[in-house]
Parts: sequence; C-alpha cells; structure tokens
Amino acid sequence: MQLIEDPSKLQPYQGAAFVPTMGSLHDGHLSLMRRAKKLAEKIVISIFVNPTQFSPDEDYLKYPSTLDEDLAAAERVGVDAVFMPSVEIMYPNGIEPCDIELPDVAIKPQLEDTHRPEHFSGVCQVVSKLFDLIQPSVAIFGEKDYQQLLVIKQMVKDYQDRWPGLYIEPHPTAREDDGLAMSTRNTFLTKEQRTIACEVYQRLSWAQHAQAQEKISVGETEKVITNLLEYVGFVVDYAVIRSGDTLMSVSTFDQPTRALAAVRLGEVRLIDNIAINAN
Ligand code: PAF
Repeated sequence: MQLIEDPSKLQPYQGAAFVPTMGSLHDGHLSLMRRAKKLAEKIVISIFVNPTQFSPDEDYLKYPSTLDEDLAAAERVGVDAVFMPSVEIMYPNGIEPCDIELPDVAIKPQLEDTHRPEHFSGVCQVVSKLFDLIQPSVAIFGEKDYQQLLVIKQMVKDYQDRWPGLYIEPHPTAREDDGLAMSTRNTFLTKEQRTIACEVYQRLSWAQHAQAQEKISVGETEKVITNLLEYVGFVVDYAVIRSGDTLMSVSTFDQPTRALAAVRLGEVRLIDNIAINAN
C-alpha cells in the first residue's frame, strides 16, 4: 500500500475507486472500502481532516486521529494507496472561498445547512479538490450523511465537464448491533449516553413501521418521533420526514421519503436517517 502526500504521485491511480475520509476509521469506513474493491481495479482512500467544513465552535483540531490503526486497517482491506495531504497542499494559497456553486439540496432543506451553515461549502470545496487530484472513476459515500451524499451527487451532475464519467456510489449505513449508526463521534459518548444513543435509530425505525401499518400522517409522525427523542433525553435539532430525492418537505408518503434526525446528547451531535418509502 502506497502512502502519498505529493499529488503528482497520484497519477497511476487515475480511474480508481475512491473513498474520502477524515481518518479515525471504523467499520463503516471499511465497508465503503470493501464496496470500492468491487468497483474498480485500484482503490484510493484519502485521510484529511478538512478545516473548512468545521464551524468555529466545532474545533477541528480536536478531531480524533488514529493514523497507525487506520493504515493497518486500510492495508488489511486491500487499499492500494492512501492520499494524506497536508493543509498546505490542499490549500496552497491559504483558505479561499469555495469555487463550487452549491446545489439547492445544500442550502434549501433547512437540515444540516441550517445547523452547520458553512459545512457543505467546506465539503464541496475539499471533495472537488480531491476529485481534481485523484480523478477517480467512482467515489463511494455512505448514506449516514444523507444530505452530504445528495449534495455530492448533485455537484458531480452540475460539474460533469469537470469530472466526466465520475459516478457516485451510495452505500448503506453500517450499524452497531443495537442499530446505532457507526460514526467517529460515537467515541465521544459516555457509557450512559451510549445506552440511549441507539434510540435515534429505534425511533426512525418506528416511523417506518408506523407508516407501513397505521397510515399515520407525515405531521403526526414527525411529532411522535420528536417527542419520543426528547423524552429519552435528546435535544432535537430536527426529526423530520422529507423527500428522499430533494430533502424538501412532503405532505404525504406517496413518494420516496426519508426520516432524518439530528440530536444532541451533551456535547455530542448524532445524525441518522432511514428510508421510509424506498427510492
Ligand atoms: O464524510 C466525511 O468524512 C467528510 O465530509 C469528507 C467527505 C471526507 C470530506 O472531508
């Protein structure tokens, strides 16, 4: 497995399957890499904690780093190259504004875009630079960050001349045995918080079953899941049913819909989502 800091060394990996990460790898990341192995001859991953997608109160310097374990895990999965650029390589002129025009799904749904206002411009900025440097044929993104997945898909569609033929492959969320979506942030949960963290998935699953069996309305479903999440101790940023394609509000379930939630437990923010009517 080749470790690459200098982008000029990426040339042999043009057309690879690509998994972008910020490191601190868990089984969710590894499942994306296993999927990547089936999609192209070579797999490249990136490990780069991108400063531009963190807001000032999120302190990107505290993002956990487990580099030795990450490299060992990537090697075991069969990754061919790990691109680990410095901030100076990614932002040689210092932090500049993002040159990507953000798609509606990054600015209109009032989900992550409202709660983390600079986030998607930072994500699009770094992912577009990584696509430019690596020129993959396919990039794999997890459904856990569902709005991010749709933003990247739309960005690639809007800029198809910049990355011709690039395909974004969605991958299902990897979960712990009790349903909790795997996330680097889970490591920040205390033992007690960890015991209730699985409730997010349980409540979203409840919405799925309730809709299938009782024909409950969109508004009632949102109210019930919000109340249940608050009851077990979460501060709820949102718990909503949205279009699975645009993430805009829906009044009925007669189309592909997703239940999405973002909640806070002390300092830790958890997000998750589940398909109600599959896309
Ligand atoms: O999902 C992530 O880990 C990050 O947002 C990404 C895509 C690696 C960009 O920094």
